[in-house]
Amino acid sequence: MNKRLNEKAVAILKKNDRGGFTIPTARLYPFQWNWDSSFTALGLTTYDPDRAWRELEMLVGGQCSDGMIPSIIFRSDDQDYFPGPKIWQNDNGPVSCTGISQPPVLASVMLSLTDPADTGSCERAMALFDPVMRWHRWFHLFRRTENAPAICTVHPWETGRDNCPDWNTALAGMEVDSELPSYVRKDIEHADASQRPSQLEYDKYLTIVKFGREHGWNQDTLLKDGPLQVADPGLHFILLRANRDLLKLAHILEREDACADIEHWIRAGEAAVNYLWNDEMRAFCARDVRTGIFSNGFSSASALVFYAGAGTQEQRQHTLEHIRRIGDKTRFGQPSWDPDAAGFESQRYWCGPLWCQMNYMIARGLAENGEAGLAEKMRLDLRRVIELSGFYECFDPMSGEGCIGGDFSWTAALWLAWAGRDAPAFQTG
Ligand code: SER
Repeated sequence: MNKRLNEKAVAILKKNDRGGFTIPTARLYPFQWNWDSSFTALGLTTYDPDRAWRELEMLVGGQCSDGMIPSIIFRSDDQDYFPGPKIWQNDNGPVSCTGISQPPVLASVMLSLTDPADTGSCERAMALFDPVMRWHRWFHLFRRTENAPAICTVHPWETGRDNCPDWNTALAGMEVDSELPSYVRKDIEHADASQRPSQLEYDKYLTIVKFGREHGWNQDTLLKDGPLQVADPGLHFILLRANRDLLKLAHILEREDACADIEHWIRAGEAAVNYLWNDEMRAFCARDVRTGIFSNGFSSASALVFYAGAGTQEQRQHTLEHIRRIGDKTRFGQPSWDPDAAGFESQRYWCGPLWCQMNYMIARGLAENGEAGLAEKMRLDLRRVIELSGFYECFDPMSGEGCIGGDFSWTAALWLAWAGRDAPAFQTG
């Protein structure tokens, strides 16, 4: 237990508290982000369970009328961020927000926070149960197409893995809107541009936002006619895991009425896994739904098959070989993109850096599936990199240097909940 780093982690979460919700880091990301908040709750609950539930309640408070829980909730405008609420213009919810979602880790975090013997935590979980059901239903309705059974996204930002080379093929086939209004990026005022997405990528991100805005954020239109449709192993595996965890919650909360729907989603999720299997790479990869073309590298999302409890014995064995191959190349944990694939950059956002939340989910899946040693190595790697560099948004997996945002909430939270603990926090199997 490192007392100094524990205190620093708590201080970061308090500093980033904006009154019931926590921003990822000041200036660069000054609002409530969806999966950031969920991971942050895992850290909050180590010293203030009430505040942890509040974080999740505030997140669910941003749910749109169609069931989507958005990627960002804009409770105010802030000139430090672009694109803010005036660009998104999504008013389908109680609070202004983006028109896309983010990886649904919420149900899994709720399960971690729920103690069946503690009525208080069960009541808090019960109040969020139906909204989370609606959100999962939203994914199955609006993020699956007739041509592909796996969960697909309409925007790289929705995957949480913004500029991962996973999207390059699909983005290459997409035009920038010739009438895209000019804009000024703010991210490169707060962070080194060499560690952020390119200008062309931003033009494409904003082209999709323009399409969504012009169609009133009608999610059916955005999915079917929007500029991008990519099946994502990250969203797919995280939702499959979240459905399994939601089913456990349903049993704890005696919500048997919900079980048939959830079981149906789980079966559909399991059956769709093969759509993401790239036989040439021997890995689960992103796939452009319109062309059927796979991305050609092993990403941190490819490694989530264990977390999802999916895949055949053979697919898992190949995945493990990739994880080991890549682990031998880096000094710290699993990077966001394959160091042996084109497009790897060790410090550029999702093109290579190590991300603590991805490593947490990968390790959790490995520990549960007979690979406790590998999982523990990942935990200790994250601990070492935080001890070396501090609580950064992400890290160079080769040098350990911290990248982009400092004093970052999910890094502080996962230090408290996982990396900084005296013993591994996962069940093994
Ligand atoms: N991650 C995105 C950004 O960098 C938005 O979700 O701004």
